[in-house]
Amino acid sequence: MLNIAIRAARNAGDLIQRSAQSVGQLTINKKSHNDFVTEIDRMAEQEIIQIIKYAYPDHSIIAEESGEHKGNDYTWVIDPLDGTTNFLHGYPQYAVSIALKNKGKTEVGVIYDPLRDELFTAEKGRGAMLNNRRIRVGKQTDLSTALIGTGFPFKHPQHLDAYLGMFKTLTPTTAGIRRAGSAALDLAYLATGRLDGFWEIGLKEWDMAAGILLVQEAGGVVTDFSFNEQYVKSGNIIAGNLKMHQAIYQAINPFVSDQLK
Ligand code: IPD
Ligand code: CA
Ligand code: CA
Repeated sequence: MLNIAIRAARNAGDLIQRSAQSVGQLTINKKSHNDFVTEIDRMAEQEIIQIIKYAYPDHSIIAEESGEHKGNDYTWVIDPLDGTTNFLHGYPQYAVSIALKNKGKTEVGVIYDPLRDELFTAEKGRGAMLNNRRIRVGKQTDLSTALIGTGFPFKHPQHLDAYLGMFKTLTPTTAGIRRAGSAALDLAYLATGRLDGFWEIGLKEWDMAAGILLVQEAGGVVTDFSFNEQYVKSGNIIAGNLKMHQAIYQAINPFVSDQLK
């Protein structure tokens, strides 16, 4: 199943890269405020679904652009292009994200960055890899020397004040904060130690399913804002090694209202 996920991610990534040159000619549709989709997102998703359905016709699928395809207990969770806004602007930070769950537990996660040809893979209980080399989260123990990733809650303006409170607390206490625009790559970077911690409000399952398994298999910790594992429900996550996770949790906790729990 990992091999099918890799084949699907690479094929979709190649398709995305082939279209990157002609990004100016794409038809861009707005799904909602600040939420764009192009025919490339849809074509990449179709490519992935075709490969999965050919190999596993009975499996279920949850895909960002085409929604739910009902089948058995195995469910593929697909974001064909994470970082669409970056892609549209030629900003080089976007990826394909594919996860496979069985009865609610993620067993396989693949994130492919077609620009840098970086393939991040994880299998439950078998570790995380970047281009077939084992990766681990960083060993950072002190926030003051930590590089932290985040995402702005631009689709959730009701949480902007809470988010700014968190940001204001963390900015002066860390070595730096990055908002690169692809949650999937943020989590993959955390799994390799390029980032030391990460938090974001309002993610969807397809943004984070593969990335969460990568972080966990790389020795990291992921929770929602209540220190539980209901991140798919709330869309809110904190991730890092044990120490960094705890430090971020403590810093943002004063701004976590009941709606964010
Ligand atoms: C988005 C990216 C971004 C995050 C947004 C997501 P998309 O995914 O992951 O980093 O902040 O919340 O929606 O729309 O480009 O697939
Ligand atoms: Ca996404
Ligand atoms: Ca997407």
